[in-house]
Formats: sequence, C-alpha cells, structure tokens
Amino acid sequence: MPGLTLNRHTPDEARKITPELTAVYAEVYDVPPYVGDPFFSVEVFEQRLTAAFDMKGFEVVTARLATGALVGYVHGVTLTRDRAWWISVEDILPDDAKRAADRGGIFWLRELMVLPEHGNQGIGRALHDEMVKGRSESWTALTCITDNEPARSAYPRWGYEVVPRQIKHAEESPVYDPMLLGPQSDR
Ligand SMILES: CC(C)(COP(=O)(O)OP(=O)(O)OC[C@H]1O[C@@H](n2cnc3c(N)ncnc32)[C@H](O)[C@@H]1OP(=O)(O)O)[C@@H](O)C(=O)NCCC(=O)NCCS
Repeated sequence: MPGLTLNRHTPDEARKITPELTAVYAEVYDVPPYVGDPFFSVEVFEQRLTAAFDMKGFEVVTARLATGALVGYVHGVTLTRDRAWWISVEDILPDDAKRAADRGGIFWLRELMVLPEHGNQGIGRALHDEMVKGRSESWTALTCITDNEPARSAYPRWGYEVVPRQIKHAEESPVYDPMLLGPQSDR
C-alpha cells in the first residue's frame, strides 16, 4: 500500500509507544461483542501487552501512514511449552510442531489489529507477512476467536492449519481456534 511504512520494534521501543499501541486497541475493540467485556478492556489489554515485553522473543511490527499515524500492528513472542493453551492441545499436534516447540522454533502471534477505517486494504496481511518473514522461528502459532470474522477465515487462506480442538485463555474468555503455520519454502 503506497505511503505505508512497516517497522519492527524491540521491547524497549515498544515500551515507548505503549500509549499509541493501547489507543489503537481501544478503537479496534470498541465494538460488540468486545465493548463492555472486562476480558477485552483496555486496562487488561495494557497489562497483557506490557507483561509480554518481558517474554522471550517479544517483538512488535507497526504500520504507519506517511503522516506518521499508527494504523495497526502485530505483536508476539517465542512460544514456550508451558503455555496452558498449548499444553491443552499438545496431544493432538503433529510431531514436527512439538519438536519445533521444544527448540523454541515457534513464534506465537498474539495480537494483530488494524483500525477499522483502514481495514480491508491489505494492511493486516502485510503486517502478518512482515512479522513472520523476519522471525527466526520457522513455525507460527496463533489462537483466533471462533466467530471472529474476517480474521478466522483469513488465516486458513494464509496457509494456517486449524488445530481441531477449541481452547479458552481464561474461564471468562471466549472460545478460540488454535492454528499453526508450518515452515514455508518461500520465506
Ligand atoms: C483481522 C484484521 C487485523 C485484518 O486487517 P485488515 O487490514 O483488514 O486485513 P487485510 O486487508 O489484509 O485483509 C485480510 C483478509 O480479510 C479479508 N477482509 C478484510 N476485511 C474484510 C471485510 N470487511 N469483509 C470481508 N473480508 C474482509 C480480506 O479480503 C483478506 O482476505 P485475503 O487475505 O484472503 O485476501 C482486522 O480486521 C482487525 O483488526 N480486526 C479486529 C482485531 C482482530 O480480530 N484481530 C485478529 C485477532 S486473531
């Protein structure tokens, strides 16, 4: 997309732009069914985000317009095998994915978001691809709310395999589909 700049950020850089990252979340998630749900509150998001800064492999990729305005971002960490959601599906995962997790070879894509007024212009896909191609891990894992469109349908088109067991991140969270993107020959 002309005029769009994608930039990778370390945890320290992300710390400095936390208010901007939080403001984008606040706008993206200010819609049903998220608005008013404490699990998706801006405060809880900011706690999750800032806690992630200290996790192994944290990185954020931002998308900015020529004006400098932040219109979206993606962030994630290196997946560790002690994650409750991973443990809850591990018995049905392919062996090569389990081996990749053992050696820290899976990137856990935790959040991808684009401001609604800039949606459906390829920014989400561009952010995703930029993040994944720059990671040292050869696999990517994510969890997507089962009825969250257009994301839920897009990921399989981007090559993700849906793990056939739904998970929750907390008692009060919605239901998510875990998905895995295996090593791609063209990246
Ligand atoms: C999911 C999200 C990041 C996509 O961002 P985006 O900039 O619109 O993404 P793109 O323009 O690259 O479109 C991604 C795919 O969704 C499709 N899509 C996007 N908006 C759509 C819409 N309104 N209706 C139908 N399809 C749509 C596109 O056609 C595209 O499909 P393709 O890649 O197979 O061609 C954005 O909708 C968003 O922020 N949603 C709220 C937060 C969220 O759900 N994040 C994902 C958490 S798992």
